[in-house]
Amino acid sequence: MTTDHHDRSSSSGAPRRPTASTRPTSPDRDPAHGPAAREPRTGIWLIGARGSVATTAVAGWAAITAGLHPPTGMVTETAPFAGCGLPPLAALVFGGHDTADCPLPKRAEALAATGVLPHGLPAAVHAELTAADAAIRPGGPHPGDRRTDGELIDAFAADLTAFTTDHGLTRTVVVNVASTEPVPDPAGDRLPPSSLYAAAALRAGCPYVDFTPSAGARHPALTDLAARCGLPYAGRDGKTGQTLLRSVLAPMFHQRALAVRAWSGTNLLGGGDGASLADPAAAAAKNAGKARVLADTLGELPDGELHIDNVPALGDWKTAWDHVAFEGFLGSRMVLQTIWQGCDSALAAPLVLDLARLVAAAHAAGLFGPLPELGFFFKDPDPGASSSLADQWQELLAFADRLREEA
Ligand SMILES: NC(=O)c1ccc[n+]([C@@H]2O[C@H](COP(=O)([O-])OP(=O)(O)OC[C@H]3O[C@@H](n4cnc5c(N)ncnc54)[C@H](O)[C@@H]3O)[C@@H](O)[C@H]2O)c1
Repeated sequence: MTTDHHDRSSSSGAPRRPTASTRPTSPDRDPAHGPAAREPRTGIWLIGARGSVATTAVAGWAAITAGLHPPTGMVTETAPFAGCGLPPLAALVFGGHDTADCPLPKRAEALAATGVLPHGLPAAVHAELTAADAAIRPGGPHPGDRRTDGELIDAFAADLTAFTTDHGLTRTVVVNVASTEPVPDPAGDRLPPSSLYAAAALRAGCPYVDFTPSAGARHPALTDLAARCGLPYAGRDGKTGQTLLRSVLAPMFHQRALAVRAWSGTNLLGGGDGASLADPAAAAAKNAGKARVLADTLGELPDGELHIDNVPALGDWKTAWDHVAFEGFLGSRMVLQTIWQGCDSALAAPLVLDLARLVAAAHAAGLFGPLPELGFFFKDPDPGASSSLADQWQELLAFADRLREEA
């Protein structure tokens, strides 16, 4: 695996660890910084802050922090991540951008009505939802918005800087959980919104995570900015269901020398994500990431198609069906079928919290550049990451060890 990120002081380009003298000074390393520094706080800025995943992340964070629920599904709350310098859950502060204006408490009520959030939770964490809602700024661009890309980036970056300053935060990590966009037209002269937000994050000095398949920081127009910003960033597209299973099963077929003849899949989902992915161009962006794991682990992409159907009646519950036709000893033909029925936001929200904490710790340790070590969390990880979940887990544990050494 290649490790493309370096400490900020590296002049040779070779990866090396920050030393005590080269580590960036930040308030949380300075015991003389005053009372606020003894309890440094980290911002999580969610693009798409009023969506299902974002609302579930904020409500879930509040519930766990208050001791109302255990942190089930949060990888960073397990033993291998102790002592890694992750920001404590109680030290997180939420804000974000959204083009929708439904207040978070009301959005949470709607999610509870459909069983995504436990009954009664929105009322129990109403204060935290209200506080996060107060820090949400209007996103864009709305139809008819006449601002240029540069003006939009400046406005979004100013929102980020104000959030960090107003709340006295040590750093703010930006996580994109907005609606999936179509693959941008290479001949287009405007940046897609995800890339405007990514540029704003990097411009404002904020580490960036893309939880969606949208272009974000991977847009070619952002290559230079990403390379010289000195910030860690990670992506893309959270791996929560069908691709999670594929990243376990495809290496199994390969290691057992079984020949996969065809791998076909269908996803049925509703909610906002289902509606966005009803657009064939957005579905194509999502499917490109889903196909990568098979090509990488089997050596070539087997026959078979992948479909995403919008079924509004399912709401946030996704059914993912996979049909694997394979061949064994002496040409014997066999089939494996899997059915994954998951609550999408409940699967995604803990990963959003995990990623934000890990990338915040990477920033505190002075790491920068893409983070392929976080491939465990993504369908389409940064270059250099393995596509096998078992390998990705080992890479993540090694990353945790490195953070622990720096903490
Ligand atoms: N749930 C999962 O398991 C999962 C897994 C991987 C990736 N994702 C991705 O996470 C994203 C969010 O999923 P969701 O279910 O919360 O969707 P959602 O439709 O509920 O929420 C998306 C939010 O983005 C907002 N938005 C749209 N355009 C915007 C813009 N230009 N600026 C700011 N906000 C904007 C919408 O108003 C909405 O509130 C999707 O891209 C989805 O593909 C989800």
